Amino acid sequence: MKKKITIFGSTGSIGESTLDIIRQNPDKYEIIGLTANTNYKKLLEQVEHFNPKVVSINDNNAYIKFTDLNNNKKLRVLNGKNCHKEILDLNTDLVVAAITGSAGLMPVVSALEKGLSIALANKESLVCSGSLVTSIAKKNNAKILPVDSEHNAIYQVLDSKNKSKISRLILTASGGPFFNKDIKELDDILPEEAIKHPNWSMGKKISIDSATMMNKGLELIEAYYLFDISHKNIDVIIHPESIIHSCVEYMDGSMLSQMGTPDMRTPISYTLAYPERIKTNVKRLDLCEIKQLNFFKPDLKKYPSLRLAYEALEIGKSAPTILNAANEVAVESFLNQGIKFLSISKVVEKTLNKASFCNVNSIKDVIEIDKESRKLTLDIIKHGSY
Ligand SMILES: NC(=O)c1ccc[n+]([C@@H]2O[C@H](COP(=O)([O-])OP(=O)(O)OC[C@H]3O[C@@H](n4cnc5c(N)ncnc54)[C@H](OP(=O)(O)O)[C@@H]3O)[C@@H](O)[C@H]2O)c1
Repeated sequence: MKKKITIFGSTGSIGESTLDIIRQNPDKYEIIGLTANTNYKKLLEQVEHFNPKVVSINDNNAYIKFTDLNNNKKLRVLNGKNCHKEILDLNTDLVVAAITGSAGLMPVVSALEKGLSIALANKESLVCSGSLVTSIAKKNNAKILPVDSEHNAIYQVLDSKNKSKISRLILTASGGPFFNKDIKELDDILPEEAIKHPNWSMGKKISIDSATMMNKGLELIEAYYLFDISHKNIDVIIHPESIIHSCVEYMDGSMLSQMGTPDMRTPISYTLAYPERIKTNVKRLDLCEIKQLNFFKPDLKKYPSLRLAYEALEIGKSAPTILNAANEVAVESFLNQGIKFLSISKVVEKTLNKASFCNVNSIKDVIEIDKESRKLTLDIIKHGSY
């Protein structure tokens, strides 16, 4: 029996890498649903190759263009706010959550409410709604399989029967494209420079997050919720080669890690095949060729976003939701050349300073807090008050 897969965000970097593995294993997987936002051309190519039963396109213009060009009369083509629910009505075994930003939250929530297993790339959905998402998963007996290479590494080496014997999680970070630059050189960085990651090929938003190290901040929050371990016991270290993808330290001094070449197809294939493993054509790790691995402590003055993520967890309540929303708005503004690179973290910090924190009791609360925080951040940017 083939595993039935639905991919939310199939036209992005994670979506494409997922389809690449499925292309290599046609006897194991069948595509049920694919979704896009704007890239109707890529979606048309994917439909032609994978023949899904349903697709959705979020952007109205892209939807119209797609329907004009689509020749597959059997394909259901959806557009609209709640179409993820319609997609999930079809029989699916695994949902790949690969939309970027908090736009990916509702497909994740709906899939978990249906008790479906999720390969979770969309870290923002966990960051903005945290323990709500993990408790929905628990209540419905749904598995969350982390795609993020760091969390996937921890998932692979974490001995859940001995969880109380874990003393530390160590998240590794590449340090991004500006690791070797001085902070003084960063103010005039252009978006095209910031999206050039040295080790990973990724979408624009996560590439900027990697350059500011907010990506590691979001991953810290993701790890806190996923593995239910205090942020005080989660360390971040810079490892520029991106070979060790994270570590778990146990009370007896053992440190377990997962290694591999920096290629998202490895963690993705782990989630697709779970609990088995499948073959991939990912480049194998040659330790003799690599020879040396390096590690550094992150400089929180250069990377204030990482400090802000620790602080958001310390504050608790709605702080991670606000941090995430402010960061999404600030990154978009930087990409549109509205603010400078170093202003991204300043804008996020200002939003956190001006916001009031409240309890987050429901997904409705998350959506409301996300909306209000975005307004506040836009206002801060508009008035240059950061
Ligand atoms: N790329 C990586 O290596 C990597 C690694 C770890 C974790 N992640 C996480 O995985 C997620 C996706 O990252 P990515 O690099 O694949 O991003 P990406 O290349 O920018 O792709 C994002 C996907 O989401 C869709 N999308 C964007 N906004 C949407 C909206 N409002 N409604 C519906 N769909 C929307 C895009 O559609 P269109 O392209 O059609 O516009 C695209 O399919 C992020 O949360 C990221 O943090 C990525």
